[in-house]
Amino acid sequence: MEELKKIAGVTAAQYVKDGMIVGLGTGSTAYYFVEEIGRRVNEEGLEVVGVTTSSQTTAQAESLGIPLKSVDDIDVIDVTVDGADEVDTAFNGIKGGGGALLMEKIVATPTKEYIWVVDESKMVEKLGAFKLPVEVVQYGAERIFRQFEAKGYKPSFREKDGVRFVTDMKNYIIDLDLGVIENPVTFGNELKAMTGIVEHGLFNGMVNKVIVAGKDGVKILEAK
Ligand code: A5P
Repeated sequence: MEELKKIAGVTAAQYVKDGMIVGLGTGSTAYYFVEEIGRRVNEEGLEVVGVTTSSQTTAQAESLGIPLKSVDDIDVIDVTVDGADEVDTAFNGIKGGGGALLMEKIVATPTKEYIWVVDESKMVEKLGAFKLPVEVVQYGAERIFRQFEAKGYKPSFREKDGVRFVTDMKNYIIDLDLGVIENPVTFGNELKAMTGIVEHGLFNGMVNKVIVAGKDGVKILEAK
């Protein structure tokens, strides 16, 4: 599995050229992409500016000497490469397994070429077997939790090391155990309409390419 993640991450790096502004994703697959960009910066003199999607990726990029800018200081990102937790046949996806979904969506939004790198286990017919992360502000989070319970969404607060997980943006994450999400667009809109929800992990129709590494090699899927 680790080898597949590495293949996907390194394959994605081929889309990065000199002079680009590059969104650097978060997670165990995007990690290999960031490593490869760092290698090219150091060994080949690749000239890029990175925009990171988490404190974790910032630390990795800094350790590799990749020049960085804040998302606030750029207009457009040429290419962003990130992982995903599930991708359906309509190129909708769930992200946020690592808790970085808000920053990831903020970086994805001004991106011209948005690429996901996944191993083949992430490709699904319908989304929802992976618990959907929802980022909520701390104030009133218990109320949102109870609303989710009442709707039958089987919520759980994300925890890390036995305490409630707090995101880089200082919010909580509530994971929803939905089983199947029949209509990701409608469901995403429903979540966005609830006060106190900052963002959800449904990335609907955003991705341009999905690089899928499997036992039989790498497939590059283009979204229509
Ligand atoms: C981080 O919050 C996530 O959106 C990751 O991009 C996603 O969970 C995929 O991570 P892995 O590549 O580690 O599975």
